[in-house]
Amino acid sequence: MSKSLPGRSMLPISKAQGDRKALLEEAARRAGRYLDELEGRSVFPTPEALAGLESFDEPFPAGPQDALETLSLLDNVGSPATTTSAGGCFFGFVIGGSLPAALAASVLATAWDQNAGMVVSSPAAAKLEDIALGWLSEVWALPVGVGGGFVSGATMANFSGLAAARHALLRQESWDVEAQGLFGAPPITVMVGEEVHVSLLKALSLLGLGRERVVRVPVDQQGRMVAQALSHLSGPTIVCIQAGNVNSGAFDPTAEICRIAHAARAWVHVDGAFGLWAVAAPARVHLTVGVSEADSWATDAHKWLNVPYDSGLVFCRHTGELRAALTHSRAAYLAEGDQREPMEYTPEMSRRARGVEAWAALRSLGKSGLAEMVDSCCRHATSFAEGLAAAGFEILNEVQLNQVLVSFGDPQKTQRVIKAVQQDGTCWCGGTVWQGQTAMRISVSSWATTKTDVERSLEAILRIAAHA
Ligand SMILES: Cc1ncc(COP(=O)(O)O)c(C=O)c1O
Repeated sequence: MSKSLPGRSMLPISKAQGDRKALLEEAARRAGRYLDELEGRSVFPTPEALAGLESFDEPFPAGPQDALETLSLLDNVGSPATTTSAGGCFFGFVIGGSLPAALAASVLATAWDQNAGMVVSSPAAAKLEDIALGWLSEVWALPVGVGGGFVSGATMANFSGLAAARHALLRQESWDVEAQGLFGAPPITVMVGEEVHVSLLKALSLLGLGRERVVRVPVDQQGRMVAQALSHLSGPTIVCIQAGNVNSGAFDPTAEICRIAHAARAWVHVDGAFGLWAVAAPARVHLTVGVSEADSWATDAHKWLNVPYDSGLVFCRHTGELRAALTHSRAAYLAEGDQREPMEYTPEMSRRARGVEAWAALRSLGKSGLAEMVDSCCRHATSFAEGLAAAGFEILNEVQLNQVLVSFGDPQKTQRVIKAVQQDGTCWCGGTVWQGQTAMRISVSSWATTKTDVERSLEAILRIAAHA
């Protein structure tokens, strides 16, 4: 229940906000300590830490409160109730850590407090975004002149790429979808694999394309779309493929799908939320053959580039189509220059300067660092799979990337192991059902994961599984 605040709430604002520099130094000190202490902590918060969150239940203060004391409350109560996803032992969902360079750049960019939507509101943010987009299109070997934008994550990146597809296909049918909407528009066929990610379906629903009117294409045992099933394409069509299945990590046969789809003048959109980063690693690039042939691509920087949340990226081969789909109507107060205006390539107008962190991550890693970061996560995943298989547990996927699916026996036992692993606190793994089989998912997506983290985590999982 709410506790009442002490009766000292009428400080002037400037007094309550305090010494800005001292406050930021204190925040940096506390942030550094938080990160230093991650290793010894339970990966999921303890019951005591969760119960402590009640301390936030206070009435909205009647007046200004001391900023230093606010920071201290945030750290003392909030920090222990976080998952240690910034550390090396969080293997749930697909969650990257934060490279120190990206984190530090984010802190500085937050102090800049830039609106990255327009060049005029932040020349520095716009420039760094341009550089990061350029470097990334080089990493993915995308065609020269490809258009792109920074969005909140792969969900919005899928939305943006599919908006460009919807625009282009309907323009070819002489229909202006941005002006007229979809009422009375020529139909678009949307094809997805049976293993499509839910966020792509959500993007389709937001675009009025419908999450249920899609044509579902059969997949193989790894969740890869069967390309031959695409043979009868006709009319305006979007083929949505995956580079990296969220469970198995598998890639759709991109080269073949692009060939079939493009012969029928269909648009190919790639959901590569994490898998697209495999292009950066020479040892994994074979998985992505043909990916640069697609028309639009969605990925996350907060996953495998390891920048702080939130950060996603859309790219589109046809820059004009992306811009036409996402730009706003003219407004007298908005400047129009001859430079690329970031907000014309994303659904949002005002937004934070996500390009700064991506630039810092890329610059601090370089090509070889990026390759090594991606590849080391994949090697760790292989070590997990080998250790679990050696102990007699069934690995359900071909571990070619950073994802491992393991069954510990019947569904009940696997569920017991997952729950016990989560309670144990050495590491954190989630559950899933993969093609009818209950499984534990291990996703290695952080630069911070070390060989020791993998060994410790494996030891804990095997200890738990032996008694579950
Ligand atoms: C293949 C795929 N697509 C899309 C998403 C959604 O990404 P976000 O949560 O960044 O929107 C995910 C998330 O894991 C994913 O794995």
